[in-house]
Amino acid sequence: MIVVTGATGTVGGHVARLLCADHPTRLLGRSLSRLRAVVPAADVVTADFADQSSLERALEGARALFAVTANPLEPAHDAHLLAAARTAGVQHVVKLSALAVTDDRADDLITNWQRENEDRVRASGLAWTLLRPRSFMSNTLSWARSVRAHHTVATPQPQSRNASVDPRDVAEAAVIALTTAGHEQQEYALTGPQAISPAEQCEHLAQVLARPVRCVEISLERAYTAWAQHYPQPIARALLDSARRQGDGAKQGVDPTLARLLGRPATTYRAWATDHAHRFS
Ligand SMILES: NC(=O)c1ccc[n+]([C@@H]2O[C@H](COP(=O)([O-])OP(=O)(O)OC[C@H]3O[C@@H](n4cnc5c(N)ncnc54)[C@H](OP(=O)(O)O)[C@@H]3O)[C@@H](O)[C@H]2O)c1
Repeated sequence: MIVVTGATGTVGGHVARLLCADHPTRLLGRSLSRLRAVVPAADVVTADFADQSSLERALEGARALFAVTANPLEPAHDAHLLAAARTAGVQHVVKLSALAVTDDRADDLITNWQRENEDRVRASGLAWTLLRPRSFMSNTLSWARSVRAHHTVATPQPQSRNASVDPRDVAEAAVIALTTAGHEQQEYALTGPQAISPAEQCEHLAQVLARPVRCVEISLERAYTAWAQHYPQPIARALLDSARRQGDGAKQGVDPTLARLLGRPATTYRAWATDHAHRFS
C-alpha cells in the first residue's frame, strides 16, 4: 500500500488520482472532507505533520510513501514524517524536493530547508527517490484573477526564462518511482521542455484565450512588498532571492530526465495553458 501526503495539494492531488485507479493507496491530510473531494472512494486518513504519533497511525501497513511537505518554517514536519515512516516499516520514500538544491548560488531559506530534508531522507536507511522539479507551470494560476478582470499580468523580470514543469508530469514521474523498480537512491531533475519567460507565457495565454493578455513589468521591490503581504517575511525574502536567481539566468537549463522517465516529451506551457484556459476566462 502507498500513502500519499500532500494529497489535497497540487502534485499530491495528481499523484492520488493516478495511483487510486490502479494501486492500493491511502491519502493522508488534515481534513477528511478535503481528502474525499480529491478521490471520493479513496482510503483516507487524517494526520498532521506536527503530530508524529498521528503519522505513525496513518502509515501503518504502508510499503511506500510519497512525501510532500510545504512549510519551510516547520523543519520538524519532515523529521516527524520520516521517523513515523521508519517506525511503520515503510520501505521506500519518494520525496518532492526542488531543483534549486543543486544550484551553488542558491542560499535562501526554502532551498536550504529542502537540502536538509534531502539529507534526512538520504540518512534514513530507507530506499529513497528525490524528485527535484523546477517551478510549476501552475504557479501562473496566480495570474488568473487579473487576467479575467483586467486582461493583464503584473510580473517582475518579464523577460527572464524558467524551464518550468507541468505538475501533472511531476506526478507521473512520482507514480513511476513509487510503482516500478530501479528508482531507489536516485535524484531526478524534472524540468519542462523549454525555458520560457513570463512575457512568452502571456503570449501563449493570449493565443489560447483568443484575446490580448498584457504583460506589465513591476520592480522586484514591488513584487517583494506583495509577497510580504501574503507570506511570512522569511518566505517573502526567499522568494525575492529566488526571483533574482531567475533574473540572472539560473533556471533556464532543460534536463532530459523527465522525458526519459515518462517515455514521451515533457508537456509544454502551451499545452498546460490550453488545458487550464477555463481558469483564466
Ligand atoms: N511551486 C513550485 O513551483 C515548486 C517547485 C519546486 C518544488 N516545489 C515544492 O513542492 C512542495 C509543495 O507541493 P505542492 O505545491 O504540490 O503542495 P501544495 O499544493 O502547497 O499543498 C500542500 C499540501 O500539504 C498538506 N499539508 C500542509 N500542512 C500539513 C500538515 N501540517 N499536516 C499534514 N498535511 C499538511 C496540505 O494538506 P491539507 O491542508 O489538506 O491538510 C496540502 O495537501 C514544496 O515542498 C515545494 O518546495 C514547489
